[in-house]
Amino acid sequence: MRIALWPLYALITGSLAMHSPHDQSSPQPTAKQADLDRRMGWFREARFGMFIHWGLYAIPGGTWKGADIGGAGEWILQNGRILPSDYMPLQAQFNPIEFNADEWVRIAKLAGQKYIVITSKHHDGFALWDSRVSSFDVMGTPFKRDILKELADACARGGIQLCFYHSIMDWTHSDYEPKREWDPRNPDDADFDRYVGYMKEQLRELVSGKYGKIGILWFDGEWEPSWTHERGLDLAKFVRSLDPDVIINNRVDKGRNGMAGLNNAGEWAGDYGTPEQEIPATGLAGADWETCMTMNDTWGWKSSDKNWKSAPTMIHMLCDIASKGGNFLLNVGPQPDGRIPAESIDRLARIGAWMETNGESIYGTTASPFASLPWGRCTQKRLPQGNTRLYLHVFDWPKSVDGVANILHIPGLSNEIIAARALGATSFSVSASRDPNGWSLSIPVTAPDATCSVIAIDLVGAPRVGAVEAK
Ligand code: GLC
Repeated sequence: MRIALWPLYALITGSLAMHSPHDQSSPQPTAKQADLDRRMGWFREARFGMFIHWGLYAIPGGTWKGADIGGAGEWILQNGRILPSDYMPLQAQFNPIEFNADEWVRIAKLAGQKYIVITSKHHDGFALWDSRVSSFDVMGTPFKRDILKELADACARGGIQLCFYHSIMDWTHSDYEPKREWDPRNPDDADFDRYVGYMKEQLRELVSGKYGKIGILWFDGEWEPSWTHERGLDLAKFVRSLDPDVIINNRVDKGRNGMAGLNNAGEWAGDYGTPEQEIPATGLAGADWETCMTMNDTWGWKSSDKNWKSAPTMIHMLCDIASKGGNFLLNVGPQPDGRIPAESIDRLARIGAWMETNGESIYGTTASPFASLPWGRCTQKRLPQGNTRLYLHVFDWPKSVDGVANILHIPGLSNEIIAARALGATSFSVSASRDPNGWSLSIPVTAPDATCSVIAIDLVGAPRVGAVEAK
């Protein structure tokens, strides 16, 4: 049987219902699950965000006293074994006269990113906003402008959700412990409880409303021995008391399984997992997660780091992550003058051009019903009447059999297909026929998109994918 699909397509277009990764398995969510689903709604819809690592470390940009310091740019104090008393005077040099919050928001939007997570405070302890409880903040620089306030206003204007990365670890604060081993300050003078009180006051400033409604508090540095499970629970509770809607990542607590980012077994605070520089091999049933990744090899700007990933690589990563039900938080490290590196802007624009056409296959989608696909990835959305739209992300366009059409196999799928089209292609003829292992789509010889073409197919009912017979 071969079905021509174009005419039927019009019958089932219409508004798409959102659904959480949880509502298939638990029709009656618990109160805790319902609370999580409410908080995570925008996050699950967004799928793609911009990470921004920016602070004093952008000034040395990976080089200290003429020496190239290894590792990520924002780790220069630690990796260069720099004294806090030598590092902190960088504050007097921070004057990013090219900083333009609207321009940053424009770049994020150009890429199709829906949220920004910026370092309110990284491990060096420097506050990028006007903090009442610290003089190690942006108001103590020659720049004297509250960067987070300007960004918050620009995000509000541009419809971008603002979020803050906030480091628990703090290398310069006098009360933080443990001190770095080369730090000559007397550890007996440090009082960790007092440090936590200080951190909470900073968080109160950030979530007070001055910076708008904050989407995520993205904690980090929880691996230090001074941070405990009890402190994690307490901090999560404190943040929730400030705003019950704030999403909190799992680095608030001690449950994270290293760079893989998901929690070890047990009950831990935090709403979602944070794989770092890696993409999980499969989706994670019932769990929300977000892979954070650098475009080159550093988070904070480093002048020597030219190891840029290509735009097609990152587009494939975005599809891969969405096909496993996760979000992609892609980093930029602005330069000391406040500009996002040109290499990053260029790549974000290319990703954005792809998203312009294919974004509907990413935003608000859920994980693929297939364990794997030989030619690419898949995401899905629920349609009215219990039907489903699958978005097939074709990375490897099939080779032509007869020079006229190509065949794309969809292995193991047993539902009826009632419509199909390629996103962004005006003349793209497709017909579907059943084959012994599922369906075969007859598609044009030329891929509509050289990086990743997306074919949307509409199915009757929820997807049913069975085992595929060995050839
Ligand atoms: C790491 C690093 C840090 C970076 C973060 C982003 O934990 O310590 O520099 O901010 O990853 O995920």
